[in-house]
Amino acid sequence: MTTFHIHGGIPLQGEVRIQGSKNAALPILAATLLTGDTSDIRNCPQIADVQHMVSLLQSLGCRVRRSGDGYLVDSARAGACNMSGDAITGMRSSLCLLGAMLGRFGEVAMEHPGGCVIGKRPIDLHLKALEKMGVSFSEEGGKLVGKAGRLRGADIRLSIASVGATENILLAAVQAEGYTTITGAAKEPEVEALCRYLTACGAHIEGVGSSILGIRGGEPLHGTKFSVPADRIVAGTYLFACVGCGGSVLLENAPCGQLEAVIQTAERMGARCQIDRREGCGCDDGCSPDRGYESGLYVQAPERPQALSRLRTAVYPGFPTDLQSMALAVLTRADGKSCIEETIFENRFRVVDALQSMGADIQRYTQNIVLVRGVPALRGARVEARELRGGAALVLAGLMAEGESEITGCVYIERGYENIGKDLRDLGARIVSV
Ligand code: UD1
Repeated sequence: MTTFHIHGGIPLQGEVRIQGSKNAALPILAATLLTGDTSDIRNCPQIADVQHMVSLLQSLGCRVRRSGDGYLVDSARAGACNMSGDAITGMRSSLCLLGAMLGRFGEVAMEHPGGCVIGKRPIDLHLKALEKMGVSFSEEGGKLVGKAGRLRGADIRLSIASVGATENILLAAVQAEGYTTITGAAKEPEVEALCRYLTACGAHIEGVGSSILGIRGGEPLHGTKFSVPADRIVAGTYLFACVGCGGSVLLENAPCGQLEAVIQTAERMGARCQIDRREGCGCDDGCSPDRGYESGLYVQAPERPQALSRLRTAVYPGFPTDLQSMALAVLTRADGKSCIEETIFENRFRVVDALQSMGADIQRYTQNIVLVRGVPALRGARVEARELRGGAALVLAGLMAEGESEITGCVYIERGYENIGKDLRDLGARIVSV
C-alpha cells in the first residue's frame, strides 16, 4: 500500500494540468452499455475506480480497449449476468450500472455497492424511482436483484437532489417507454456531462443543467465520441493546496465555470484568483471565434489564509462536500476562528483526529459542525488516510506542516487522483510515494 513521505512548509509554484473528472467518467462509461455500439470516451482519468468500471463492463461482455487518453467501448455483445466481487462492493459508482443494466437488459443482479465510509449512503431513492418505472426489486442470496418486464416512463420527484439517483433514473429513462420527468434532479456538472453524452448518442433530454429533467424514452441510441470534462474536485484540491502552502500556481484546464463557489471561498481566504483566457474556442478543429475560452485558473495565495466565519457545504452550485476536508485543512492555519458546517454526508469529519494529531485546534461542535481556531503552523506527523477526500486533505496538511509527514492508506487517495504526488512535485512540493 502506497505511503506518501512529505517534507512540508514549501510554497507551491508552477503549472499543473487537471485530469478528467472521475465522477463524470464513471456514469458515462456505464452509459456506453446502453448503446449496443462503440463509443470513444476521451480524457478518462487513469485511476483505480475507472479501471474497476472497465473490468465490470468487460465482465458484462463489452470489448474495451485503451485508446489515447480514453477508452473505446464496444457494448454490442454485452449480456446480462450477475455482478459481484471487489469491483462492485468497493466502488460506490458501480451503482450506476443499476440504471444502465436495467435500461439495456431489463434486469440486473448485483452485490450491494460500497464506496467511501463518509456516511450511511442509502440507495432508497434509486430503488423507489426505478420501482416507479416498473422494476421489482428483491434480495436473493445477499444480492440485489431487479427485474422489469418493460421499463416505462414515470413522473419522479426526488426528495433529495441525489447525484447518483438522478444518474440512474436518466440511464433507465432513455430506454423506457414514454416520457419521464425528474423533479428535484441534481444539477451537478457530472449529471450535465452524462446528459450531454446521452444526447450525443441520440437521446432526447430536456432541461439539461436544471432541477427538472424531461426524458423522452425509446429513442434509438448509437455510439459517439465524447470528451470527459476536467475534474472540478481535483482542481479545487490543488487550489486549496496553494492557498494553504502559499505561492502561486496555474491550474491548466481547470473548469472555472463549475468552480464559482470554490473560487469565492478561496478569495474569502485571501487568495487572488484569475481565469486565464486564451484566443479561439478551445476545440481541436482550428476554428477561432472572437470570444476566447477559459483555459485555466491562476491562483495567488495570501501570506496566511484568513479564517471564514462560516463555510457550509451545499448541493451544486454551492460549496461541494468533496472539497470540505481540504478547506478544513487550510483553515487549521488561518488567521482567526472558522466554522464549517457539513450538510451532505454525516461522516465527513473523520479526518479531524488526524489533523488534531498534527497540531490543529478543531472542536466538534455538533455531529456536522466544527469550530477551527487557526494555529500559526501544523507540525509533521504520521497519519492514516481512511477515505478519498479526507486522505487528500491530509496530503495538504502534510504540505502545509513544518517538518516531515508520513501519510499511509494512500490507496484511497489514488481512487480519485491520477498522480497527486507527481502533480504536487511539479508545483515544487517535496513529496515522494513509497
Ligand atoms: C456523488 C459523488 C460524491 C459527492 C456526492 C454529492 C460520485 C461517484 N460520487 O455521490 O463524490 O460527494 O455525489 O455531491 O459521483 N441519499 C439518500 N438516499 C439515496 C441516495 C442519496 O438518502 O438513495 C442521500 C445521501 O446519504 C447523501 C445525499 O443524499 O446525504 C446526497 O447523496 P448523493 O448525491 O446521492 O451522492 P452520491 O451520488 O453517492
